[in-house]
Amino acid sequence: MKEVKILGIGSAVPQRVMTNEDLSKIVDTNDEWITTRTGIRERRISEGENTSDLASKAALNALDKAGLKPEDIDLIVLATSTPDALTPATAVFVQEKIGAFNAACFDISAACSGFIYALNTASQFIKTGQSKAALVIGADVLSKITDWTDRSTCVLFGDGAGAAVLVPSEEKGVTSLFNGADGRKAGVLGINCVPVKNPFVTPEKIDDIKIFMDGREVFKFATSIILEAIDKVLKDSGLNIDDIKYIVPHQANYRIIEYAARKLKLPEEKFFMNLQKYGNTSAASIPIALDEMLDKGLIKKGDKLILVAFGAGLTWSAGLVEWQY
Ligand code: UT7
Repeated sequence: MKEVKILGIGSAVPQRVMTNEDLSKIVDTNDEWITTRTGIRERRISEGENTSDLASKAALNALDKAGLKPEDIDLIVLATSTPDALTPATAVFVQEKIGAFNAACFDISAACSGFIYALNTASQFIKTGQSKAALVIGADVLSKITDWTDRSTCVLFGDGAGAAVLVPSEEKGVTSLFNGADGRKAGVLGINCVPVKNPFVTPEKIDDIKIFMDGREVFKFATSIILEAIDKVLKDSGLNIDDIKYIVPHQANYRIIEYAARKLKLPEEKFFMNLQKYGNTSAASIPIALDEMLDKGLIKKGDKLILVAFGAGLTWSAGLVEWQY
């Protein structure tokens, strides 16, 4: 079994900025409520780019940083809740757009936990020797399934994509990954799809394909699972919290992060946060955060980071990254 490392990270967000002020013209909300309850000040909203468009830009950006060409990639695993189509997988649209024709392609549906689920999945392919270079992508255009009349959800989300290139490695890179799920809580957060409708069945009603969420339930879940998941990564890796340079959490709500910092008796700065600029970009939030951290020079070779995410399912995922460049 080989070790696995990240060779490059890239991201892409739409140009169009939507501020809290802009939102207050569409629904009954205001900047003060959104900022104090969530920490979000603005988000990026697609002006037509679909999930595979943003994902392709992020992927090319990651390949460039890794110094690889699209044809070097033999696997694309893409995590999303907002695919271009029910089938085929959004990963194949990315393959076509970037010209990665040597890659096997599939999508993962694990909502906001999706990027780390995908990282874990692609790592297994690399460890067993089935993949020599994999693209792991988290991409979502949540604006297309947002209910723009529901102030309790539409203020939270944004569009974006992030990608990582994974390769085999001599030294430890990505380790202690794990995924979890509790399907008993599937009704707490999700996006409906088409019901069964055929010559034998006429559904009573057809739900809108829109996001629904019990915010308080998700909040309760997130604040407990984030602590459990960090603890598990530390135990699995045999490390102490002081060995960790940054915790990179899914960017949902600053209050969730503030709570975790308080409970762990850590300074808030140990948790990287950029949700104020992008809102919750679901599967894209962690790779977008990593790309920004690298751009800002916050991560150096040898630094250890904990990635941790939670979302619809309910699902959760976490892991350790020892940075190798
Ligand atoms: O990736 C995972 C995705 N989901 C999450 O991370 C969500 C986790 N949950 C949360 O972040 C929080 O629960 C929310 C930010 C969604 C909501 O915050 P809250 O402090 O739990 O507010 P609440 O739902 O208890 O609502 C408080 C009040 C209500 O009014 P009343 O009933 O007290 O009069 C809401 O109607 O705030 C009202 N409200 C708003 N007011 C202005 C709800 N949304 C808004 C809004 N603007 N956008």
